Amino acid sequence: MLKDQDRIFTNLYGQHDRSLKGAMMRGSWDGTKEIILKGRDWIINEMKTSGLRGRGGAGFPTGLKWTFMPKASDGRPFFLAINCDESEPGTCKDREIMRHDPHHLVEGALLAGFAMGAEAAYLYIRGEYIREREALQQAIDEAYEAGFLGPDACGSGYAFDVYLHHGAGAYICGEETALLESLEGKKGMPRMKPPFPAGAGIYGCPTTVNNCESIAVVPTILRRGGSWYASFGRPNNTGVKLFAVSGHVNTPCVFEESMGMPLKDLIEYYGGGVRGGWQNLKAVIPGGASCPILTAEQCEDAIMDFDGMKAVKSSFGTACILVMDQSTDVVKAVWRLAKFFKHESCGQCTPCREGTGWMMRIMERIVTGEAELEEIDMLVNVTKQVEGHTICALGDAAAWPIQALVRNFREEIEDRIKARKSGRMGAMAAE
Ligand SMILES: Cc1cc2nc3c(=O)[nH]c(=O)nc-3n(C[C@H](O)[C@H](O)[C@H](O)COP(=O)(O)O)c2cc1C
Ligand code: SF4
Repeated sequence: MLKDQDRIFTNLYGQHDRSLKGAMMRGSWDGTKEIILKGRDWIINEMKTSGLRGRGGAGFPTGLKWTFMPKASDGRPFFLAINCDESEPGTCKDREIMRHDPHHLVEGALLAGFAMGAEAAYLYIRGEYIREREALQQAIDEAYEAGFLGPDACGSGYAFDVYLHHGAGAYICGEETALLESLEGKKGMPRMKPPFPAGAGIYGCPTTVNNCESIAVVPTILRRGGSWYASFGRPNNTGVKLFAVSGHVNTPCVFEESMGMPLKDLIEYYGGGVRGGWQNLKAVIPGGASCPILTAEQCEDAIMDFDGMKAVKSSFGTACILVMDQSTDVVKAVWRLAKFFKHESCGQCTPCREGTGWMMRIMERIVTGEAELEEIDMLVNVTKQVEGHTICALGDAAAWPIQALVRNFREEIEDRIKARKSGRMGAMAAE
């Protein structure tokens, strides 16, 4: 288990003062000027050494992403966009940073922004996070007042501004290019790539989009060193991470832990165990709604990091673990997610607009047992027509949970259809 001295977020539960004074007592804004004076290359090298992979879900190496920004300006300004949308169902880790430890994020915005030559950072926060926005705005204001932001940030001679932008609560605005559209005041619809944001982002200017947690860990990594961070976890999956465990556990919570821990240990130790004991576990969605659902058997030895989840054909996602015990109707649960994705599709590409509706409707027929057995393969076929054929990854996100449900719980689906045909439907948890 992670030792207290290795925790980055020391006010995760809001027990201490979150203001600038409190944050500085916990080490924030300590030697920030000196870090800036070490230069852009030094910062990027440390980030590469740390092995940090994006904490927004896709796991792209953070240091490498920053190198995609142009080295010199052609006259256009550069920007950093920080994704505080946190819209993935089951995910609630960035929120704890924003409301209890916001100075990590504000200081991280300056350091990351400096490393990529940005003149400002835009923090895009989800519509429902009202108290979080207040906490974040207060932290930004305090940083300006102290001279940590503005024309001579931390006395380094570097000018840097931070703006907070409140979204209106659409899941798709968490997708990085939809976020940029929304930030520009337009409808949150993903853009075709290329060009990638590093080439043309906010108002056509070079932009890097990073998750809230990815940026909030930057100051500590730079203070303690990339190799300190890389000493946690496994190769290619380094560092510490905010995890969450929710659903049918005894003590749902958000916690910081090393990467690469056994999934079972996280559920047992932090989640206080599955309701009714481990043998009562039915399924786990390991990192937010778009991650393929795992059986209890798969969870037995699974390792909670990017490669560990890939090994069981799921994904690490946001590391927010949803636990379902034997009382769960997993077919209905995945139908509910299908309904969510259908509702949140922005509708601009046909496979996603039509496919999410098809998937939801077939799932609905399966839930009620009205479907024919052949429809199971038909459903999988629809997911394959959506997956990889859309502008953004929402299409994949809608397809994967269903593919995993059929792969891992096919018998349960078939039983349900057969039960309806033989008049045993009353025995199934259909309503
Ligand atoms: C439909 C959809 C929703 C997303 N929602 C979020 C989100 O709420 N927060 C987030 O950080 N990334 C979200 N992402 C991922 C972002 O597109 C992007 O990969 C991420 O912000 C990059 O940051 P990182 O490299 O630091 O992880 C979403 C992606 C998709 C396709
Ligand atoms: S995949 Fe769906 S959400 Fe993404 S751009 Fe296409 S229609 Fe919109």
